[in-house]
Amino acid sequence: MLPTVVATQYLTALREGGSLPGVVEADNDGVYVVKFRGAGQGSAALVAEIVVGELGRRLGIRVPELVTIDIDPEMARRDPDQEIQELLRASAGVNLGMDFLPGSVGFDGVGWQPPAEEAARIYWLDALTANVDRTWSNPNLIIWHRQLWAIDHGAALLFHHSWPTVATWAERRYDLSQHVLADLVASLGPATLAKLDAELAEAVTEDLLTEVVAMVPDSFLLGMNSVPEDADPPELRQRYVDYLLARRTRVGAWWPGVDA
Ligand SMILES: Nc1ncnc2c1ncn2[C@@H]1O[C@H](COP(=O)(O)OP(=O)(O)OP(=O)(O)O)[C@@H](O)[C@H]1O
Ligand SMILES: [Mg+2]
Repeated sequence: MLPTVVATQYLTALREGGSLPGVVEADNDGVYVVKFRGAGQGSAALVAEIVVGELGRRLGIRVPELVTIDIDPEMARRDPDQEIQELLRASAGVNLGMDFLPGSVGFDGVGWQPPAEEAARIYWLDALTANVDRTWSNPNLIIWHRQLWAIDHGAALLFHHSWPTVATWAERRYDLSQHVLADLVASLGPATLAKLDAELAEAVTEDLLTEVVAMVPDSFLLGMNSVPEDADPPELRQRYVDYLLARRTRVGAWWPGVDA
């Protein structure tokens, strides 16, 4: 399970974020970027944040710490903005928090570059999890203390918005041609990429995936707009495991510059 904190104060809205994430202080004095359950698509984006973020962390990618954060709807009374009041009321209870990295700047490809191998790990994760949200217009990568951190995995795992058979989705290649790290990844060359693919595919075991999906609260799984109310959380978790297991051996054909 993820660590749990309790929100004490809503600090500010991150207006550039499409889902209106907020910066919130918690009872452990930590400051978190909160993704609210009550924002639009239900909790699907929160499930994706946990599954992709925690998997990425285990594959050697820097992802800010994730927590579940409890929101008291009374907090809404203290904010003058009606849109935020409604969002907080719709999100009473458990939400997702990501450690706020103060002073971080968005990666824009100009100047500082991450090591190419690090970029390739991120690209591999994005191909595995169908994360099309790492483009030049929206890199979702931040630089903090001269290191690259991956954020915002809410748009990944597209398959969970409709739940047809996992097998059909697992075969699907997504268009990552606009991926912000594609050129850097391609610069590693086919032999290095093949080696890295073998390492990562081997690391993504059923046990590892089971550990990762166990971190998703039942309420997030059941709160997705796409799942029936009588859905069974263990069965839903297994779908993610099956999907990712089926894809892990395909990703090697999806490197930039490799035609499959
Ligand atoms: N952990 C963090 N530390 C510091 N800044 C962050 C953090 N997470 C997000 N941000 C900032 O807030 C912005 C919005 O966050 P994020 O991309 O996660 O939100 P979103 O609503 O999913 O956005 P999008 O519009 O990309 O769908 C980021 O681009 C980044 O500038
Ligand atoms: Mg974003």
